[in-house]
Amino acid sequence: MATTRYVGRVVNRADPKKQNFPVLEGQPVAQEHAEAAFEAQERLQNNIKVLKTEFKIYRWNPEFPNIKPYLKSYYVDLTTCGPMEENSSLSYRRSCREGTCGSCAMNIDGTNTVACLRPIDAHTTKPTIITPLPHMFVVRDLVVDLTNFYHPYKTIEPWLKAKKPPEDGREYRQSHMQTERS
Ligand code: FES
Repeated sequence: MATTRYVGRVVNRADPKKQNFPVLEGQPVAQEHAEAAFEAQERLQNNIKVLKTEFKIYRWNPEFPNIKPYLKSYYVDLTTCGPMEENSSLSYRRSCREGTCGSCAMNIDGTNTVACLRPIDAHTTKPTIITPLPHMFVVRDLVVDLTNFYHPYKTIEPWLKAKKPPEDGREYRQSHMQTERS
């Protein structure tokens, strides 16, 4: 389950505040989330022996089209839960686990966010509700169809185009001098 640990491996650093989360440099919101998550985790580890919280997660499996989408409850002990892979039957995307790629985008308690950086509110007594991104077709559980999202990118072709392809037909290469200039 994507949110069963605060910010994945980002919080597993000796003193992330001192390191200032170099991987999140230039991303103040992500930096702030990571710091908040680290503080929340520290608070839990120091003060609480067992803290079970409820997550209600959107489930839908296209292999069983007669079963309508529903919210399934998971109860997780926040003091002992492991990183991400808690339930192999739940489908979701993730890749970098540090707030860079956006793969784990989903809606958590009404906010569209990336799950790997979203801290769990350790004080809440209400369940955390996790659903797919809104206004998108669901492929399965928290995975949405990104075709419509990527289509506009294809139409504007937002990549660098060389004037002529390499003569040997291989990949585009860059000399050391060109690397230094860029
Ligand atoms: S896995 Fe969360 S942003 Fe990449």
